[in-house]
Amino acid sequence: MTYFNKTLASLQPSKSVTLMAKTKSLQKTDPDIINLTGGEPDFDTPKPICDEAARQLQAGYTHYTDGPGDPNLRRALARKLRDENHAPYAPENILITPGAKYAVYLAVHAVLNPGDEAMWLTPGWVSYPSIIQACGGVPVAVNLKWEEEYRISLEALESAVSEKTRLLIINFPNNPTGKVLSSEDRQALICFLQKHPRIILLSDEIYEKIIYPGYEAVSLASVPELFQRTIIVNGFSKSCAMTGWRLGYLACCPDIYNVIMKLFQHTISCTSGFLQKAAIVALDCRDEMEQMRLAYEKRRNLLYEGIRKIPSLHMLRPQGAFYAWIRFDTSMDSETLCNYLLDHAKIAGVPGSAYGEESCTCVRFSFAASEDLLRQMLKRLEALCPLP
Ligand SMILES: Cc1ncc(COP(=O)(O)O)c(C=O)c1O
Repeated sequence: MTYFNKTLASLQPSKSVTLMAKTKSLQKTDPDIINLTGGEPDFDTPKPICDEAARQLQAGYTHYTDGPGDPNLRRALARKLRDENHAPYAPENILITPGAKYAVYLAVHAVLNPGDEAMWLTPGWVSYPSIIQACGGVPVAVNLKWEEEYRISLEALESAVSEKTRLLIINFPNNPTGKVLSSEDRQALICFLQKHPRIILLSDEIYEKIIYPGYEAVSLASVPELFQRTIIVNGFSKSCAMTGWRLGYLACCPDIYNVIMKLFQHTISCTSGFLQKAAIVALDCRDEMEQMRLAYEKRRNLLYEGIRKIPSLHMLRPQGAFYAWIRFDTSMDSETLCNYLLDHAKIAGVPGSAYGEESCTCVRFSFAASEDLLRQMLKRLEALCPLP
């Protein structure tokens, strides 16, 4: 019999990645399918970034680089973190990683010992529980409620904590709900973390730049008492439409950083030099980022107004990110529901169960898609609803 690492062998495949691939392949024979599964901007990477990458490639930045990252990029990120996030990490404590996903993995691995518990908020990103498990930890969900608009309360956090808890992972603006931390949410988190000084906070801020009027993406690393024990994860995939470049980063205090670096050196060594040089340009592409944000905002409004008119559908108005988290009045579970939508309306979304919501009837649809496609989606839903 083949001998495997039991923990890794028991992991569930990523539902969103699997569904995205499956839907793309179905679209080859049926182009009428509207694929809203992917967490991927539908814009090209801004031209100045691509031009810079080509220039640096030609200039010969094709060798191993400074392990933790290009010094100029790390300095630029330190300025950005200080000025925009009020999180004054030194450039020496910023690490450039192949995507934010790998940054999450490094951070979780560096903090957890086998059997340690890590809390994550549901609904939440599909990969957190699997990454926790892959690192030998035990994921513990903090179940937030639709009826409370996913408000974070001290009681909910306390109900999930134990003496084994070492890590709390948060992600705002949130995938899949589009929610941003309110000041009450922040207060609950701060109060909780002050009560439990052994817990490290991992703050995944990858959707930080995609935020809608009236809301603010505030990093908890800006709270002086939490700064020392917060690990910020961010990247270029979503804000700059650079998913395929695989460029992310993390920032934290020196003692955690030194542990992370050991794993980084033995697994990745460094990320590509010419891509990192282009990432410096990406940080200055404010107009391009704003243009994309404005397009998402228009689509959000279109979808929200459209869904509200369809009886039996409910949608929370996204405050950030590019996902519509829609609840259907139906007796189907979210997985059956997604299959039904694909079979009967040729609309592909990701079931709520992928985000730790086992009993919900929610589906996540990405609105990183053209307005035209979103209008077609609305028409098809209108024709199909109410559902059995
Ligand atoms: C919440 C969250 N964190 C991290 C990532 C990973 O981003 P990257 O493409 O930089 O690995 C994603 C991508 O879907 C995400 O939604």
